[in-house]
Amino acid sequence: MEQHVCPWWIGYLLANPIRKLFQNPMKILSPYVKTGMTVLEVGSGMGFFTIPLARLVGPEGRVIAVDIQERMLRGVRTRARRAGLEDRVHTVLCEPDKLEAPFPADFSLVFATAHEAPHVGVFFQQIRSALKPAATLLLVEPKYHVSESDFAAIVTDAEWAGFAALSRPMIRGSRSALLAVNVKGQRDSI
Ligand SMILES: C[S@@+](CC[C@H](N)C(=O)[O-])C[C@H]1O[C@@H](n2cnc3c(N)ncnc32)[C@H](O)[C@@H]1O
Repeated sequence: MEQHVCPWWIGYLLANPIRKLFQNPMKILSPYVKTGMTVLEVGSGMGFFTIPLARLVGPEGRVIAVDIQERMLRGVRTRARRAGLEDRVHTVLCEPDKLEAPFPADFSLVFATAHEAPHVGVFFQQIRSALKPAATLLLVEPKYHVSESDFAAIVTDAEWAGFAALSRPMIRGSRSALLAVNVKGQRDSI
């Protein structure tokens, strides 16, 4: 599978509110995100999903927005400040194969990002280490970039890293899977 990292300027297009007509963040996320949760969003871009996540977790919750591009995270901070939600949004700059989250999370969102990871198994291993034992993860990939067989390979890598597939939620223009931490364990290294 070809890896290509989304250029920072596409971050502005992805965070455009018009996208809500096609992919409504509240509708997509509200089944999984409850007040008080800690949410880990990996590959946040400029925050199209981060700000709705911050609303869903409420004042007692928090969102950790992780990205490999500082310009994306700058966009997240700007949007969080404008929305008055900066207290519950934490940004973390990571390296493609190294993610260090400051708090264990109850839920993780990985939207249109896994196909950009150089080593998908390691990518999910890092995420799994940052989650609580009962956490779930919503994996979503764009249909126009990721074929059904490539998506199946991504899910297999996530299973290898210690996740179990629960269901296939319907999200427009996307291939998606709801995953849970597999309590039977995770591999130590590839
Ligand atoms: C196509 S954008 C999607 C942004 C956002 N999730 C959305 O749907 O609007 C992919 C994002 O993932 C980031 N990214 C790529 N590889 C990553 C990795 N290994 N770890 C964290 N972020 C990554 C990119 O910098 C980019 O911001």
